Amino acid sequence: TRNIDLAVIPGDGIGPEVVEQAVRVVEAVLADTDTGVSLTEYELGAHHWLATGETLSDATLESLRGHEAILFGAVGAAPGDTRVPSGLIERELLLKLRFSLDHCVNLRPSRLYPGTGSPLRNPGQIDFVVVREGTEGPYVGNGGVIRQGTEFEIATEVSLNTAHGVRRVVRDAFERAAARPRHKLTLVHKHNVLVHAGHLWRRTVEEIAPDFPEVAVDYLHVDAATIFLVTDPARFDVIVTDNLFGDILTDLAGAVTGGIGLAASGNINLDGTAPSMFEPVHGSAPDIAGQGIADPTAAILSAALMLHHLGLDDAAVRIEQAVANDVEQRSGTKPRGTAAVGDSIVAALRGVTV
Ligand code: NAD
Ligand code: IPM
Ligand code: MN
Repeated sequence: TRNIDLAVIPGDGIGPEVVEQAVRVVEAVLADTDTGVSLTEYELGAHHWLATGETLSDATLESLRGHEAILFGAVGAAPGDTRVPSGLIERELLLKLRFSLDHCVNLRPSRLYPGTGSPLRNPGQIDFVVVREGTEGPYVGNGGVIRQGTEFEIATEVSLNTAHGVRRVVRDAFERAAARPRHKLTLVHKHNVLVHAGHLWRRTVEEIAPDFPEVAVDYLHVDAATIFLVTDPARFDVIVTDNLFGDILTDLAGAVTGGIGLAASGNINLDGTAPSMFEPVHGSAPDIAGQGIADPTAAILSAALMLHHLGLDDAAVRIEQAVANDVEQRSGTKPRGTAAVGDSIVAALRGVTV
């Protein structure tokens, strides 16, 4: 028998509400197996910073490293909360975790489950995955401000792209495309304007493509990609892109596949040197926090991605199937609360065997 050792970071706002349901589902699905699970909860986020001044200490980071995987809710203060500097928790906790634990691939699958209401009139069969670079790009904080507050102020935000960083993400995207039935990879960038980084990405794709002759490669500028995500999202299979474009595209992808409350993600450490971290694409949603109405499905599907990553594919597939069954029954019914969705998915698990 195996025991998986998980760290859980519920975070702020709706984070704890949705993570509670994800944990229930993990416990329920593993209860039917010979795999046990132990959970260590870490009190981190805006509320924790307000109480202690800690965003993420070295000791906490080291302790997190010792777990097999991390389940993360969401962090971020309410917009009106002027006590918390904007973005502090996002950068000093969430991005620090992604960077320190070398989460180079931010994996964000998008699937339109039958029965889900897409806002698109003709969504078609949407089933693609965005391989978003996770540790570089404009996210690294490379830049600065001079002559602040004057008419001559200059602010720069320089995107970092390394050959190593781009190569490992592009190779991973090719491997995923090769393993999927449609064998298609789309590089999304903006190399007509962002020539330096854009050409590194483009050359890297050209260099790796011969290793995957079965994968059909194409390219879209990011602005055009947003058109096709709305007019013809079924055309996409694997999208590989940088950190910022991937952030924007995956909120859009969430919206066209029935809402951000369904969009899951994994921050993957490819070489196994640190735990990977799984979290919904959405944030702390201060506008609905505390009301018990947040959709926990994205967190639950993120937990399924985690189980896949840990090699527990049967358990993961059971969760995905239970979610698909539950989502199918949602159409036309009144929205349910967070716990009711959790109950329903736990109940749906019983009907699913793999
Ligand atoms: P958000 O994703 O929190 O919310 C956007 C909209 O989607 C809101 O109307 C919200 O109510 C809705 N929504 C989000 N999740 C939902 C769910 N599970 N069920 C139903 N509705 C849901 O994005 P935002 O408003 O831009 O950001 C709020 C805070 O969260 C900010 O502080 C931001 O920096 C932070 N944030 C954190 C993460 C993260 O921790 N991974 C991700 C994105 C944003
Ligand atoms: C996400 C979020 C984060 C990002 C923020 C909160 C730093 O928007 O996970 O998509 O931009 O990556
Ligand atoms: Mn985002």
